[in-house]
Amino acid sequence: MNYIQSVKNIINEKFPNQPLANVVTFGCAQNENDSEKVRGLLAQIGYTMTDSLEESDIVIYNTCAIRENAELKIFGNIGKLKALKAAKPDMIVAVCGCMVMQQHIVDKIKKSYPFVDIVFGVNNLEILPLLMYKRYTEGKKQILPPQEKTDIVENTPILRNGKSKASISIMFGCDNFCAYCIVPYVRGRERSRKPQDIYNEFKSLVEAGYKDITLLGQNVNSYGKNLEEKYDFADLLQLLCTVPGEYVIHFMSSHPKDISKKLIDTIRDNPQISRQIHLPVQAGNDRVLKEMNRHYTIGQYMDIINYARQQIEDVSFSSDIIVGFPGETFEEYLDTEKLVKDVRFTQLFTYIYSRRNGTKAAAMEDNISHKEKSVWLNRLIKIQQEIVFEHLNSFIGKEVKALVEEKHDDGSYTARMSNTFVVKFIADTDCMDQFVNLKITGKKGTSLTAELI
Ligand code: SAH
Ligand code: SF4
Ligand code: F3S
Repeated sequence: MNYIQSVKNIINEKFPNQPLANVVTFGCAQNENDSEKVRGLLAQIGYTMTDSLEESDIVIYNTCAIRENAELKIFGNIGKLKALKAAKPDMIVAVCGCMVMQQHIVDKIKKSYPFVDIVFGVNNLEILPLLMYKRYTEGKKQILPPQEKTDIVENTPILRNGKSKASISIMFGCDNFCAYCIVPYVRGRERSRKPQDIYNEFKSLVEAGYKDITLLGQNVNSYGKNLEEKYDFADLLQLLCTVPGEYVIHFMSSHPKDISKKLIDTIRDNPQISRQIHLPVQAGNDRVLKEMNRHYTIGQYMDIINYARQQIEDVSFSSDIIVGFPGETFEEYLDTEKLVKDVRFTQLFTYIYSRRNGTKAAAMEDNISHKEKSVWLNRLIKIQQEIVFEHLNSFIGKEVKALVEEKHDDGSYTARMSNTFVVKFIADTDCMDQFVNLKITGKKGTSLTAELI
């Protein structure tokens, strides 16, 4: 807080007109939640947020390391800042997030992008005002090496993006070491926030009018493992559902190896919890799953799906899938197609395997060409498209509840059902950021059309 004040004084002198900041997120919802905290710090210093790079007095790229193409895209974006920085020497260029939790990336930034002023990782966002202060007063770049940290900082200021939708990071890091994945290396060991801290944040969001709240963790099903008391994710959901109000709770991601019947029963018993469960399966073949270090079989995965379908009316599932894991054969990939057809996910995020330095799979033999893997991916996308169309058709004629997200110039609105399907409708009263009841009348492209009830 002291440094926020000190930087504020410097900024007021340097930028007597309104200083502007642009924080860009690459990566997942947890990264976006971190960006909201970075914006919270900048807002306290006195910056106003802008989407314009040219007008910004500070640009911060919050980066992702999950796949190679993410990193390449980010380097491309950082490169483009060179000319801007040359024209505005007082502007600060900062890079934070998962990508700079790798020493070879920090070295590359130092060498190839010398105009970057500040680098800081995922575990110490709150250090930003100090780094800015040092950058301005000492004139030296502030490039932090990746730092492992295990404690949790509460009460970092936060500037939220939306008025009705919000996210809460309930835990940080990951201990699962799936063979393909960089996250445990860049986000460090798993640690959970205290239930009371999460409850307070959740309650204040509901009281402020937020209606769609997502609880975030790399594996929410192992929430609580490092807490002193015996407390799990189902207990946390049960606690949050005691907060009065009209809202829907989502959570992600759920690891199939740790999902419990208790959790499914908790969803069943609390209508505030979304009926769509994100349950990344990654592959449809048991040998591939074992090589991926996922610790479940397709039989066990289907047992969870079937139990949830017995218990929860209207339950649906979304998932993540990787095609072309090292050693995966076409026959094994076909098991993924079979699984997708069996489960009929309402939403599927599909990726081609990307080799990540330092992970176990990076050393595995990989004989299938990228071109071949693209063919598999496109087959899967096509199958999933058909499934989504069928899901959309099944809603025609039904009454649904949805949260209004966008208002268009022609008086129409876009709303989202809790299973993430998009519904468009026309209304003459302002219903922005409200729950509405809709009667689905048809389908247009990948969204539904409806009448307001
Ligand atoms: N913790 C979450 C996932 C975080 S990463 C979970 O376990 O579900 C989001 C998704 O990216 C993963 O589910 C996986 O499908 C994909 N992914 C992770 N590493 C990858 C890699 N090396 N190549 C391709 N996709 C990857
Ligand atoms: Fe990566 Fe697996 Fe952890 Fe998810 S659970 S972040 S896929 S290591
Ligand atoms: Fe990317 Fe980090 Fe999220 S690597 S997917 S931003 S945890």
